[in-house]
Amino acid sequence: MPARKTLPALRAAAAGCRGCDLYKRGTQTVFGEGRADARVMMIGEQPGHEEDLAGKPFVGPAGKLLDRALAEAGIPRDDVYVTNVVKHFKWEPRGKRRIHAKPNQMEISACLPWLQAELDVVKPEAVVCLGATAAQALLGPKFRVTKERGRWVKAPWALRVLATVHPSSILRAPDDEARHREFERFVADLVHVRAALA
Ligand code: URA
Repeated sequence: MPARKTLPALRAAAAGCRGCDLYKRGTQTVFGEGRADARVMMIGEQPGHEEDLAGKPFVGPAGKLLDRALAEAGIPRDDVYVTNVVKHFKWEPRGKRRIHAKPNQMEISACLPWLQAELDVVKPEAVVCLGATAAQALLGPKFRVTKERGRWVKAPWALRVLATVHPSSILRAPDDEARHREFERFVADLVHVRAALA
């Protein structure tokens, strides 16, 4: 961890992180992205295939859906810092493809100091946990996104924290109608965030 915490210093230090073994599997560390004065921090689980190659969070299909939902909710993209609980892509081979594998508790704990440092620097007005991995890493293992999504919850490390589903879960909906419905629910959760910033 660098002595002086700035986003560029943290990003440079995280690039050489050996806190767990995932650096051996991922192409590179995918650090968070956005302005140091961003008002909202959105936290996902870990980079996916495209993010691993690009070195940037939320640039693949889930990121595109997130951008559309932010636009629909009226949250300017510039106000948002995006990052992940785990900053390397964990994957298993399936034929020629790299399939997402869930990070374990050790990998999550090893990576949390980076997220804590991002929170310390950005000091967002609102934090949005995207999906169960982020919500449980930050709000405790008993937190249930299905029950508590879209509501502000108390946490010591940000003024306001809210959890909602992960955008990939919307992409995995069984048909167009379900996808549309889930997208609108996701936007409705983000509208609460916009209202809190207004
Ligand atoms: N899913 C995540 O949780 N994070 C990303 O950066 C991309 C997909």
